[in-house]
Amino acid sequence: MPHLLHIDASFRLEGSVSRGVAATFRDSWPGTVTHRDLGREPLPHLSEPLFTSGFTPAEGYTAEQKEAAALRDTLIDELLSADAYLFAVPMYNYGVPSAFKAWIDHIFVVGQTVGVEPSPVAGRPATLVLSKGGAYGPGTPKEGWDFSEPYLVKILSEVLELDVHVITAELTLADTTPQMESLRGLAAESLARAHEAARLRAGRLALV
Ligand SMILES: Cc1cc2nc3c(=O)[nH]c(=O)nc-3n(C[C@H](O)[C@H](O)[C@H](O)COP(=O)(O)O)c2cc1C
Repeated sequence: MPHLLHIDASFRLEGSVSRGVAATFRDSWPGTVTHRDLGREPLPHLSEPLFTSGFTPAEGYTAEQKEAAALRDTLIDELLSADAYLFAVPMYNYGVPSAFKAWIDHIFVVGQTVGVEPSPVAGRPATLVLSKGGAYGPGTPKEGWDFSEPYLVKILSEVLELDVHVITAELTLADTTPQMESLRGLAAESLARAHEAARLRAGRLALV
């Protein structure tokens, strides 16, 4: 039975588009799941005890290093124990939510998950569900402003060496923003496509 690590990063517990699309994926996922909800339970930011514990022998830990390392080790265990990944990540301020960045800062440890060839999770399938209030494709007024998707795809596929598949729901602010009224049809199409892509992706992974 394949095991999925599902991470939600939206702080919205109700009405979140990324959570909704991830839930569609989950509905078709046949295996077991570890769900880490960074919106409900945010991780601490990267700190000196956390960072230094990555290269200090455990016998020499301070109390702060011990506590920070215990959480980091739990998160790395969750990463290593999964066969597949589902990351649901909204765009905040043209970038990645700090909640998700904190997760990355915990699990990127040189010699364990980073800088080892091959990566311990190399080739595992990752589904990256992105929700964006606007649109950033070629020819849009904000083309070039998306610092979320390129960053996430780069680090997940080239640092962790995951097999990344991106599903995007864009223009999610259209329904509630009067100036975006003319884009509501496109927003609805994008959302429907994202749900369908999530359903198909989970089903396809189930057959592997
Ligand atoms: C704090 C904050 C910052 C945001 N910044 C952006 C942004 O820079 N660009 C954008 O297109 N949408 C932005 N949005 C809109 C979100 O990307 C959009 O509402 C998305 O659907 C949020 O994901 P969720 O529905 O899963 O919560 C922002 C939303 C919030 C709450």
